[in-house]
Amino acid sequence: MSSAPVAVFDSGVGGLTVVSALRRELPGEDILYLGDTARVPYGGKTRQTIERYSEEIARMLVGEGAKIVVVACNTASALALPRLRETLDVAVEGVITPGVLAALAATRSGHVAVIGTKATVGSGAYERALRSSRADIRVTSMACPLLVPLIEEGLLDDPITDAVLARYLEPLRECDADTLVLGCTHYPLLAAAIARWAGSGLTLVDSAANCARAVGDLLDRSGLRAPAGRLGSLHLGFTDPPDRFLEVAGHALGLDTASAELRRVPPLGQ
Ligand code: DGL
Repeated sequence: MSSAPVAVFDSGVGGLTVVSALRRELPGEDILYLGDTARVPYGGKTRQTIERYSEEIARMLVGEGAKIVVVACNTASALALPRLRETLDVAVEGVITPGVLAALAATRSGHVAVIGTKATVGSGAYERALRSSRADIRVTSMACPLLVPLIEEGLLDDPITDAVLARYLEPLRECDADTLVLGCTHYPLLAAAIARWAGSGLTLVDSAANCARAVGDLLDRSGLRAPAGRLGSLHLGFTDPPDRFLEVAGHALGLDTASAELRRVPPLGQ
């Protein structure tokens, strides 16, 4: 079982930030990635829809032999994690708890800001997780729906993106939040632009890197880490041919995306 692949899924290409972190942290693991490009974005959809899409994908990957499932999407982690943990026979790791633990370790002022999609911010998942670990934490959450399309257009270093970021992040000028959780798997690609805007006073918490460390811990705890000395493989699948963003992300993240395949996700019950 320890030689079985780690399944990773996202609504599209953004979850490759988690894949890249997993490849660095756990180079011996085989990774089976599914990006649901046919149905992206999840960020404006309802809980029922996000649960259904997530369960369909996770079941397919577990059916292909995955030893654990990593939900490399903040929106699916915020809305579908309880359902996946209830219905799957393998362990499931999301991106929210690892990001929350890193934010709590980083903040000195006790005020944490979170940015994400409308669905993630609307779910209140980050506030709940932050407050359940530290009752007096203050949280400022901001939905930033324009960032995903800007990133997908490859505008990672562009005055338009800088202007949109400045508008969204304006509330941070007025408060003492000292830690910003990048609560969307696309956002690590904007880390440099956000750091330019924020200067050194704001610690950025990248949920991808923290998730990869949490997956390593989970594999160790369950005795599922791949045997030492092996070199893991990467299989990328997408439900619709990905556009130029796959190249942009692959290049920015140092991943070989050339062998990506087109996949069909069976509906539940088939
Ligand atoms: N991957 C999603 C997330 O991390 C962003 C893209 C979407 O809206 O589907 O929240």
